[in-house]
Amino acid sequence: MRKALLWASTNPFLAERLPRMRFVKRATSRFMPGESWEEALTEADRLSTRGMGTLVTLLGENLDSIDQADAVLDEYLGVLQDVSDAGVDLEISVKLTQLGLDFGPEVAQERLSRLAEATQSLVWIDMESSDYVDVTLEIFRNVMSTNRNLGLCLQSYLRRTEDDLDNLLPLDPSIRLVKGAYNETREVAYPDKREVDDHYFTLSRTLLKARLNGGMARPVIATHDTRMIESVNRMAVELGADKDDYEFAMLYGIERQEQNRLVTSGHVVRVLISYGSSWFPWYMRRLAERPANCLLYTSPSPRDRG
Ligand code: FDA
Repeated sequence: MRKALLWASTNPFLAERLPRMRFVKRATSRFMPGESWEEALTEADRLSTRGMGTLVTLLGENLDSIDQADAVLDEYLGVLQDVSDAGVDLEISVKLTQLGLDFGPEVAQERLSRLAEATQSLVWIDMESSDYVDVTLEIFRNVMSTNRNLGLCLQSYLRRTEDDLDNLLPLDPSIRLVKGAYNETREVAYPDKREVDDHYFTLSRTLLKARLNGGMARPVIATHDTRMIESVNRMAVELGADKDDYEFAMLYGIERQEQNRLVTSGHVVRVLISYGSSWFPWYMRRLAERPANCLLYTSPSPRDRG
């Protein structure tokens, strides 16, 4: 099921037709407050009153022209301006392919630099499929050499991530750790979920230790896995970390009760809100993470309410 949904996420025929169907549109409302930036900002404002910061991402992936990359850049520059005017605790999370990576690393790098210059807060870089990892790391390093307003996502399902993280530590980076959402071969990614989880835990330990040794600006544990969250919290106590030494991040609409519970118990939580009309591949990846969502599309589980 997971593989079929991930296959569907890259299928242009389905991407063209399914989003027009009303039941599919209704289903996505569970995972996004709306297609417009205004709806995302309103929700970010509401979440801030509940003690949560937000991350915002404009949906959309590979582009057909550099003009589209400029349109994405302009959209994000507008977002950053509105955020500064509204004074909301909101950061953006961008895909380098949306900033024109397929037209050359320099195209994406230049636009990423513009975004980093336009804000005092962090610009997060999403990690896409494994073919993009090398170039994403290279661009991250290049932009970090002149502007440190950057954070990077790393994926625990990739076999290479432990080495990548070790190589990044001298930069004192901000790292968001996820399990990974793309369809990868067993040559590059662990096929077994237990291995992905074990690797996630090991990497979390590296992030926390680095933080305590002064070599990690912001470690972010981005998962809805409540058992993992508990294990990381336990490990943090064992290592002597305070609650504000690390953060949690979750997707909008998923494990809301856990999001509230963490905030109430004094943890730092950021919720990622997606907006925009190109939601099909992203939505299919959310279904692939939990195929039961295909059945539950109109009624979230109790843990996702709240
Ligand atoms: P896991 O898949 O083990 O799920 C644990 C539990 O969480 C499930 O049993 C279920 O209860 C709940 N859950 C998980 N997904 C759910 C869903 N879709 N619907 C309902 N319940 C669900 N990936 C990537 O490759 N590049 C990136 O840049 C990012 N960025 C990113 C940012 C943030 C803030 C988050 C939270 C996630 C990402 N991801 C990502 C996605 C990530 O790789 C991963 O696919 C999802 O977070 C799901 O994995 P979990 O860690 O939640 O664990």
